Amino acid sequence: MRLPDLTAFRRVVFFTGAGMSAESGVPTYRGAGGVWKQYDYHRYACQPAFDRHPDAVWEFHNYRRSLVAACEPNAGHAIIARAEQVLPSVTVVTQNIDGLHQKAGSENVLELHGSLWGVRCDATGERETRFDVPFEGQRADGRWWRPDIVWFGDSLRDAVVSAAIEAIRGCDLLVAVGTSAVVYPAAQLPTLARQAGATMLEINPDETPMSAAYDLCMRGTATEMLGRLAANLPSD
Ligand code: APR
Repeated sequence: MRLPDLTAFRRVVFFTGAGMSAESGVPTYRGAGGVWKQYDYHRYACQPAFDRHPDAVWEFHNYRRSLVAACEPNAGHAIIARAEQVLPSVTVVTQNIDGLHQKAGSENVLELHGSLWGVRCDATGERETRFDVPFEGQRADGRWWRPDIVWFGDSLRDAVVSAAIEAIRGCDLLVAVGTSAVVYPAAQLPTLARQAGATMLEINPDETPMSAAYDLCMRGTATEMLGRLAANLPSD
């Protein structure tokens, strides 16, 4: 298949994973130096761990806040944000929690796995966006804020999943960028676009278990491949 021209499409979904932010300096989860190779998520990123040791969970999440706060969106994020400005409809469905799509200017962003910058209190139902680094997890009343992130074992938020499914089912182009496609239910969402007859592109240096579902697999980095795909996109 020839490289399609991004400007030829009207309803585009960018389905992104940790590889989208790799060139910004945010570690991926499963590659070399991956987060889960250094930290056991059973101890730092799941509800039972939070129930047992909220302080240790916040220490880990404050470490990630400090790391991500020092990272800037890369050229790939900028291309996706620009596409939203010039194409009729662009939706970002991201598994990432780093907020770099929004920092690059994307507005129509669905965060399937929540946000590193989100906090909530399950006792009171409060939900806030807070960019403190570090964030003081323990509240004045002794209760704890919880990172508003979808941890392993959590359910995704119905409203976010419904919006993502609607966007993916209605798109004419789905571009998966930097995801290993091994975590469900997110990993199966792109197949809904295929069922709807959309053109399917995968941008990833490596093959993934979903690669066969794509019309074209662009084996390279997010910045390089998005740069090629968006060659005809009017610049600022
Ligand atoms: N450009 C594009 N892709 C890249 C780049 C790059 N510069 N560098 C690495 N990749 C690819 C890797 O080949 C890999 O396929 O990005 C993918 C990263 O995979 P993961 O680390 O598994 O990240 P992701 O797919 O987003 O993980 C999904 O798992 O741990 C949970 O909730 C967490 O959202 C996360 C989910």
